[in-house]
Amino acid sequence: MTFRYIGSKSRLIGQITAHMGRPEQGAFFVDAFCGTGVVAEAAADLGWNVRINDSLHSAVIAAGARLISSNQAPFKKLGGYARAIAKLNAAKPKQGFMWREYSPASMDACGLERRYFTEENAARIDAMRALIRAWAESGTIHEVEERLLIADLLGALNRVANIAGTFGCFLSKWTSQSQDKIAMRCRELKATGVCVETTVGDVFDVPNAAQDLVYLDPPYTKRQYASYYHILETVALGDEPVVEGVAGLRPWRDLASDFCYKSRALKTLLRLVSGLKAQKVLLSYSNEGHICMQDMKTEISKIGKSTMHALGTIGRYRPNKIASRSASDVNEFLVVVERPVAQPLWAQPTTVKATKPILVESYYV
Ligand SMILES: C[S@@+](CC[C@H](N)C(=O)[O-])C[C@H]1O[C@@H](n2cnc3c(N)ncnc32)[C@H](O)[C@@H]1O
Repeated sequence: MTFRYIGSKSRLIGQITAHMGRPEQGAFFVDAFCGTGVVAEAAADLGWNVRINDSLHSAVIAAGARLISSNQAPFKKLGGYARAIAKLNAAKPKQGFMWREYSPASMDACGLERRYFTEENAARIDAMRALIRAWAESGTIHEVEERLLIADLLGALNRVANIAGTFGCFLSKWTSQSQDKIAMRCRELKATGVCVETTVGDVFDVPNAAQDLVYLDPPYTKRQYASYYHILETVALGDEPVVEGVAGLRPWRDLASDFCYKSRALKTLLRLVSGLKAQKVLLSYSNEGHICMQDMKTEISKIGKSTMHALGTIGRYRPNKIASRSASDVNEFLVVVERPVAQPLWAQPTTVKATKPILVESYYV
């Protein structure tokens, strides 16, 4: 995604890549909470195979699009990528779901004027999304091309959304960019393809092996991504959920993240890290997060050798101007966890019987 995303590491990418090292043959960089995919892209640029995962489809589509190469998306049946984008920009506006729920036309449907998009832009989003679906269903584009176009549409709609950074709510007054006509753009595709695996799901289900490098960037505040980015998710999925409230939220509670609850965050993180098979794990966190950095360090050191690196500041998420003035910057940290090299069973001490099953499993990978 080319836009602001809570917790995006785009400003810290140089410092994070400094800890990635060189990939071993067949090893994957596993970006298990990929968000925008900026970190996975940097790993791919270093030669890693990458596996990206997020609980949101929209995040995985946007992150995956950063890794697509031009030969993977030739748009042969449409005369090329630029032609496909031009056709989408010229699509006749359609009064569909986005228009009905997220533009002032929502007044008729629910008695509320939701000002996420002007009526014209919302109807254009409906038309673009419908055309992408029609092309996919008729075989005019294949799956990689479809995902690329959806990601481009997410970027375009974000540029004209009448919001203050997230889709948690719309602004009451129209911003000047929200008045612009929505326009999709071609992005620069990668010159060569990289090996990419994508999954959408809970972080606990992401495959990883001993030689992989797992990168964990969990949410660290109570802000639930599934509700803050609900419109992106709806466009990514192309569905028409029953939405509710002033903000028109799609049902999101089944995607609520344990990392967003102060009472569960540390326990969940420790369960996650100790269950990983990878010998090296990079973990991003902030000193403004639910987990106190010192407590984290103490507990993570019990799992493996850990070092903590201060990475400096990223812009704080600021819901309004007053919060913006009073906010100090967030300090970001990278914790590097390294676990001992796996020992074959015959080399382990006899006390291995006392080892929990999850650790025994890690010796075999
Ligand atoms: C801090 S953001 C990641 C930012 C990303 N590293 C970047 O630079 O753009 C956290 C991400 O974790 C995802 N997430 C939250 N809980 C999750 C879970 N249990 N499993 C998988 N992904 C989760 C959110 O949807 C969000 O995209």
